[in-house]
Amino acid sequence: MENVREQRQSTKKHVIIDCDPGIDDSLAIMLALSMEELWVEGITIVCGNSPVEMGFGNAKKVLKQMDRLDIPVFQGEAQPLKREYVNALDTHGEDGLGESFLPEVPGYGQSLDAVSFMSERIRSLSEKGNGCSVIALGPMTNLARLIQRDGEAFSMIDELVSMGGSFRNHGNCSPVAEYNYWADPDAAALVYDTAYRTGREIAMVGLDVTRRIVLTPDLLEYMKRLKPETGRFVQAITKFYYDFHWKWEHLIGCVINDPLAVAYFADRSLCGGIRAYTAVETGGISMGQTVVDSMSFYKKRPNALVLTQVDVRGFFRLFLSRILGIPEEELDLTDQLVRDPAQSTEGTGGRDII
Ligand code: RIB
Ligand code: CA
Repeated sequence: MENVREQRQSTKKHVIIDCDPGIDDSLAIMLALSMEELWVEGITIVCGNSPVEMGFGNAKKVLKQMDRLDIPVFQGEAQPLKREYVNALDTHGEDGLGESFLPEVPGYGQSLDAVSFMSERIRSLSEKGNGCSVIALGPMTNLARLIQRDGEAFSMIDELVSMGGSFRNHGNCSPVAEYNYWADPDAAALVYDTAYRTGREIAMVGLDVTRRIVLTPDLLEYMKRLKPETGRFVQAITKFYYDFHWKWEHLIGCVINDPLAVAYFADRSLCGGIRAYTAVETGGISMGQTVVDSMSFYKKRPNALVLTQVDVRGFFRLFLSRILGIPEEELDLTDQLVRDPAQSTEGTGGRDII
């Protein structure tokens, strides 16, 4: 039995999910655990949407919902590298999980912190020839600390996919900055600079593509009809998020950023983009901005694949089929269910200037 399990494991893509749950992080964790193609080695928590202890607890609540308390979770950095920590509980609710106030899950005492786990697991898998990728869904503080503490392990990361940044789209924390990179710009800058210096490429899943991923009320209703228990859980953790989007953007729906990074990691055909040298501004009025040199003014080799197109319907087909455990061909994702802001004249339906 063990051999079969190991064999199954060896044909999957091994991945560490670094996140700050967080409502959309939680949906991303659910998706990752539902994908046969992925073997989630562990979940590392970083301060971001929620303080790191809260994020740790929220990850365990999601794992309990998925009946996957076999997945290890590790607490990471509690503060950004340099700037003051600013949470996003105004967006994710006072419990960081949409004020669902789910019961705490006991246990999970860990001898390792997140960065030590990353270092050890990336090294061991790399030495076995399996390779280990990282999907970063929060501020990049843990990754920056990994570079500082074990740069060689960072260089061993198979693929690095980061939800963060914005190329041609507006920011969500300032006119130009997206939260994950704005919350710890020094960490993001170090990761992109290191990628440049070591000839690596980061897949930047930024607001240009994630803002087109709108979980509409009709889609949620569809999920509840198809798989009531899962649909009700998603509803419980997203209600606050729907209210937030209506209050601040007059958007009927909620933008779920993080699941797209997981979907794209597993299926690269979902998105397209440009390869460019990219750097992160660490101070001043544009702190956290991703400066994407699409015209190669700086004559520097690309260190990022900046995603600019997304197959929205293809994403929701994958997302729903995996989360609900229903074959894609049995889903009927009509235009009523799937709304692509880029296809509509009024943009996201909110006050944004597209
Ligand atoms: O800007 C959106 C990103 O910031 C998402 O990852 C969300 O969870 C927050 O971390
Ligand atoms: Ca996140």
